[in-house]
Amino acid sequence: MDIQTMERKFQEIFSQGRNEARIFFSPGRINLIGEHTDYNGGHVFPCAITFGTYGIARKRDDRQIRVYSMNFEDTGVIEFTLDVLDYDKKHSWANYPKGMIRYLQEAGWKLSSGLEVLVYGNIPNGAGLSSSASIEMLIGVAVNEMFDLNVQRLDLVKLGKKVENEFIGVNSGIMDQFAIGMGKENCGILLDCNTLKYEYAPFNLTDHKIIIMNTNKRRELADSKYNERRSECETALGQLKKAAPIDSLGELTEEEFEAIKHLVTDEVLQRRAKHAVSENQRTLQAMKALKDSDLAEFGRLMNASHRSLRDDYEVTGTELDTLVEAAWKHEGTIGARMTGAGFGGCAIAIVANERVDEFISQAGSEYKEKIGYDATFYVASIGDGAKETTTEVLL
Ligand code: GLA
Repeated sequence: MDIQTMERKFQEIFSQGRNEARIFFSPGRINLIGEHTDYNGGHVFPCAITFGTYGIARKRDDRQIRVYSMNFEDTGVIEFTLDVLDYDKKHSWANYPKGMIRYLQEAGWKLSSGLEVLVYGNIPNGAGLSSSASIEMLIGVAVNEMFDLNVQRLDLVKLGKKVENEFIGVNSGIMDQFAIGMGKENCGILLDCNTLKYEYAPFNLTDHKIIIMNTNKRRELADSKYNERRSECETALGQLKKAAPIDSLGELTEEEFEAIKHLVTDEVLQRRAKHAVSENQRTLQAMKALKDSDLAEFGRLMNASHRSLRDDYEVTGTELDTLVEAAWKHEGTIGARMTGAGFGGCAIAIVANERVDEFISQAGSEYKEKIGYDATFYVASIGDGAKETTTEVLL
């Protein structure tokens, strides 16, 4: 796929328009470390990747909004108007743009007309690399630029999260929209999800590559399990509050947690809280390791993160564990862990440049042998956040 093919399709689908068409790109994301900490008031360390969603958008002269995805061509054009922006199951993926436009309007940023948008994404579908947040931010940024709304980037990020939470019904944290909205080439972003203070950290791997390993497992039940973990943490927090004046699990050190954990009477909930607390500390330690140029320590923390997600938080599953454990066995691996929500989706590994091919073939065949179908591997590049573009080359 290239931009010319998209442009041709755009002309074919939306032949009537006279206004200028503009091109936008919004990335996917991976999280380097700090998993299931965002909604627990902890730290995350994600980055935007160069896979993402491209969109060609043009203002219309009426109040219609017409959207078309080259990833779901059978669905055809989905159409609604600026005046009726309710969730509609039939509108499938178009609920993301719709929700974004709805919340922008409700917050007072009114669009003066409708628009038409053609999108194509090269983020593997359902892989947990945030294709939904990518579309939310694509539309947010496109509409912001085209209608001169002057919305601050952080407000777009917050609106994207609101779409996910209130329009779609997934109780996710702010990490995905933040990484996608604020990403910067070759940098990770350390974000304190309590205060939204953030810091860019150069993540230039000269001798290593970040490998994305896709389990190709459908993330069935992922959303309901996600919401379940979130409420488990809320229950645990409520019990811990009897002894500590805290508003989130992210405020506790591991020592503080150990001293009061008996207040969480259910053993499962205690493990959930333990993960949230320890993962937050690991994220801070990982940032320090990075500043000290200690990639080996960073890798060890990634491995510990995965074990905690597997044993205490229980969001990995056989597929992710198989891939990560295969990665751990390989000598070229500095560290490996699942990334994102879990329950399928992707893992990441940091691997020595000269061992990458061998790593992929070894981990790939171990996975196939145990799971029965193939995993897919990609070399990740850390890219910019959502933006207007003219020159991006599509994969
Ligand atoms: C999903 C959510 C994020 C975050 C991760 C887990 O990607 O959308 O907000 O909670 O899971 O770290």
